[in-house]
Amino acid sequence: LPDVNEGGACGAHGGRGAHRHDDKLENSQMRALSRIALIMGILLAALTPAVGADEKDVVEYREHLMKTLHEQSEALGQILSGVIPDDNATAHMDQVALVASLSLKAFEAKVPGGEAKPAVWSNWPDFSKRMNEFAQKTAAAAKAAHDSGNEAGLAQLSDALTCKSCHELYRQEKK
Ligand code: HEC
Repeated sequence: LPDVNEGGACGAHGGRGAHRHDDKLENSQMRALSRIALIMGILLAALTPAVGADEKDVVEYREHLMKTLHEQSEALGQILSGVIPDDNATAHMDQVALVASLSLKAFEAKVPGGEAKPAVWSNWPDFSKRMNEFAQKTAAAAKAAHDSGNEAGLAQLSDALTCKSCHELYRQEKK
């Protein structure tokens, strides 16, 4: 039992000579550890590029946002046409405004594909202006709903949902 304790104590105080064997063991452990660290470094470097979104992901991401806009505005359309009570109208307008505010970012990476026309990027100042206005108008409609009630918010919707005018210029539907 004392031997075991002594070994640890000697090592901690840099004991030499009598414990040469322990030093050797420590050295080989250090070498093994640094080799593991090196291998992990190489692995990390090799894996890092795979973590970034590839082009397919970029296209799918912006399409997810657009589909959300589609679902939420369809729900609002049902409310507007009176088939569904308007209890959730403000919440749906919040959703549209939120996703609208996220959408420009989703197009920033210049990745043609999906249903996006190349004009999105060659005409970026106009495209981004339209997307920003869309975000502002849907936010204003949602705010009107919060401040003055569903009627006030819904009244601004048809002016705020500029989907079609943007699609005419920047989207080519694939059939
Ligand atoms: C400022 C421009 C702009 C506005 C505003 C806009 N969109 Fe889009 N939308 C696009 C572009 C560009 C695409 C093509 C994206 C792609 O496929 O990569 C698209 C694609 C879509 C798609 C197809 C997604 C898919 O799965 O391929 C739907 C659905 C859609 N939009 C719905 C809407 C709705 C609903 C609104 C309004 C509430 C809206 N968009 C507002 C530019 C816009």
